[in-house]
Amino acid sequence: QAKKLSDYKAPEFTISDVELSFELNPEATLLTATYQLHSASGCAGTLTLDGQELKLLSVSVDGQRLSADAYQVTSEQLILPGLPAKAQLELKIELNPKANTALEGLYLSNGAYCTQCEAEGFRRIAYYLDRPDVLARFTTHIIADAKAYPALLSNGNLVHSSLLADGRRHVTWVDPFPKPSYLFALVAGDFDCLKGSYTTGSGREVALEFYVDKGNKHRAQFALESLKRAMLWDEQTFGLEYDLDIYMVVAVDFFNMGAMENKGLNVFNSKYVLADQASATDTDFFNIESIVGHEYFHNWTGNRVTCRDWFQLSLKEGLTVFRDQQFSADMGSRTLNRIDAVKTIRTAQFAEDAGPMAHPIRPQQVLEMNNFYTVTVYDKGAEVIRMLHTLLGQDGFRKGMDLYFKRHDGQAVTCDDFVNAMQDANGRDLSLFRRWYQQSGTPELKVYSQFDAKKREFKLLMQQHTPATADQAEKQPLLLPVRIELLSEGRSQSYLLEMTEASQEFSFAVSQQPVPVLLADFSAPVKLQYHYSLAELLQIAREAKDGVARWDAIQQLWQLQVKAAIAAQHSGTDYQLPAALLEFYRQLLLQPLDDLAFTAELLTVPCYDMVAEQFEQIPVQEIVQALQGFRQQLAEKLAEQWLFCYQSLRSEAYQYEQQQVAQRALRSVCLQYLCFVKDQGLLLQQQYQSSDNMTDQLAVLRACRNSAHPLFASLMSDFEQRWQHDVLVLDKWFNLSASYPHPTVFSTLQQLTAHPQFSWQNPNRVRAVFGAFYQQNPAMFHAEDGRGYQVLADVVLKMDAINPQVASRLVTPLLSWKRYQPARQQQLKAVLQTMLSKDLSNDLYEKVSKSLSSD
Ligand code: ARG
Ligand code: ZN
Repeated sequence: QAKKLSDYKAPEFTISDVELSFELNPEATLLTATYQLHSASGCAGTLTLDGQELKLLSVSVDGQRLSADAYQVTSEQLILPGLPAKAQLELKIELNPKANTALEGLYLSNGAYCTQCEAEGFRRIAYYLDRPDVLARFTTHIIADAKAYPALLSNGNLVHSSLLADGRRHVTWVDPFPKPSYLFALVAGDFDCLKGSYTTGSGREVALEFYVDKGNKHRAQFALESLKRAMLWDEQTFGLEYDLDIYMVVAVDFFNMGAMENKGLNVFNSKYVLADQASATDTDFFNIESIVGHEYFHNWTGNRVTCRDWFQLSLKEGLTVFRDQQFSADMGSRTLNRIDAVKTIRTAQFAEDAGPMAHPIRPQQVLEMNNFYTVTVYDKGAEVIRMLHTLLGQDGFRKGMDLYFKRHDGQAVTCDDFVNAMQDANGRDLSLFRRWYQQSGTPELKVYSQFDAKKREFKLLMQQHTPATADQAEKQPLLLPVRIELLSEGRSQSYLLEMTEASQEFSFAVSQQPVPVLLADFSAPVKLQYHYSLAELLQIAREAKDGVARWDAIQQLWQLQVKAAIAAQHSGTDYQLPAALLEFYRQLLLQPLDDLAFTAELLTVPCYDMVAEQFEQIPVQEIVQALQGFRQQLAEKLAEQWLFCYQSLRSEAYQYEQQQVAQRALRSVCLQYLCFVKDQGLLLQQQYQSSDNMTDQLAVLRACRNSAHPLFASLMSDFEQRWQHDVLVLDKWFNLSASYPHPTVFSTLQQLTAHPQFSWQNPNRVRAVFGAFYQQNPAMFHAEDGRGYQVLADVVLKMDAINPQVASRLVTPLLSWKRYQPARQQQLKAVLQTMLSKDLSNDLYEKVSKSLSSD
């Protein structure tokens, strides 16, 4: 049943024009779909269309209604034998949006109709050639009650609107750009609309419209401004302009993912549109700008040039993530943005490589496409694009992009086409580089150094090796761009090395023995091994030019501390942090760097996931205990300094603005530490009551949670009261409740699902509770008795019947049983086996069966 990349065949029929006419009704929407079909060979043949869970009412070819024996319908296909080489096909289909809890195809979100078609959701709307290499011009008619659904939206331009005698309105949208079905969208509802406009460099006036729930208009302002910034940035950076007269964004509460780049009509999870200072954190604002940018950038990388098949998903996603990262870096701090991306790779992506779902950025085999919207395809995909950018330079990369659009505008292409454009525009052979698209897994880069005082020569010996992954045993050497700096005599010299062999030596003429800074800017997504001393790491943290390298040195330093602390636990001794590290922190607190957000990063002990990824077999409770011990020690030994730093940072009237964001970040770090030593009840109350923004309030709740503060319960219930009618904010409360690191959390979880605002149908709620439970509560999720696993497994099974995509994402932490000690392995395998004995969705079946067969 799995599909393979190597089986790709061009379609036998193609569709040039599509006309869709929807008569909306919650339980019986009538769709008339008309297609102009053309056979590629010019001969008559069998047409096979994709379709799922559709009620087919009639089929007509060239105006003639077919009798039921002239075609065949299966659970996944409509088969029409003997279709003429050129034909007009008309289908009448009945849909039940109200019953659609999978949120794929046409569904209802709080009474509004909306669609989600990527990857293969259009086949739940109509029988179609539901594949990205069939590009058609779409005309969409929507007919619905005019009063209940004032907004009737689809892709492209509105060309007609009229009131019918029966009180319904009929609108017609025409999208002039041929597109694959996954970019189709329809929305109908009663919204508030925030309007703006943008004039492109070449003078096109674009109407910008944000559709949000009634009463939320003011909360869309930041998203609108973000869109304008993104539009300008893409013109300035890549010379890419918007191509329609209107750009619409609709915010819906029920959505499986973050957002969707439908042509001219983006649909967003409301949490990535709505924000104001009272209800959203600095992080929320950041995410909104980045996702608004991401979806906008898709208009060129995804829509104008799309994917030939879904194995090429990274063609648009890796590239668009890279583009949104560059955008965010230009809007804020390049270093902090890079650190965030590195964290994602080192936690989630390395974990994916090490687990049963390992795959290259261009997967070779897929059972359920929705399972491949992964951190590998997206984020490692972006790292691969970034390496091209590093190797070719800003100008070379731009030349490659220009050639890519010149060659492929309006086409559905492959990752190879993209690399070819980069290669040809730069006259550079990239054949070795292409291995990044075929090979899965995390390369390990071992580095040794040697200094020859007589020859005044410094040598780096580098070895790369990629361990086998679940999907692929044999690995080859890759092209690794390795940025380094050599530190000596207070100076730093930068180099870009290109490693192409399994083992390679690089030498440098030097006068003194330098300290090498390796993999600056995280120039390749690999695991680095080099034996640094504590003193060298601190020197790098102080002297390297590259901010990411400075941060990374501290990360490595902490990893060494974790190993030492766990060894001490095993020998029953106390572990004391080295004086030099404490001194480094003391200085940092007394004299923070100019970049306060970067200072805050340096002062933060790595999170559990970052540490866990360093172990082949993860000693869960030991890590949790070690990290908690570090925080405790830092809190005690630097108690005065945390307070001094906290008090020296004043809070101003809230603005989402870099300097302020940085101040709040550092203040919040200080607050977390402060609560580990003293009660600090007054200070907590003070910040909670007097702050004018969600960021500072949430910081208090986090500090209380982390230190199991007596104030936690009362502040939480105050927060719940205050925000009970605002589900987006309430999700933060769900999240904090579910991540409380104490066995009481198990009864809390039960209470949360009985909360009046909780709904199994809404993915945001389910993730706010159970996503938080496994991502932010490792001690309880991995509870000794296996209760955490059981809770999640039950939820996954329950969700699979409601929404398979959500179930399939939630199951992730249960799959990597190999990474734990034998007792936990048994518990995990047992819950997976129970799952597999049930009737599962494709989504869940693919993951659970892979996990168990990797035994
Ligand atoms: N293309 C969308 C984005 O990256 C995500 C769509 C995900 N859809 C899915 N079925 N997994 O912005
Ligand atoms: Zn995307």
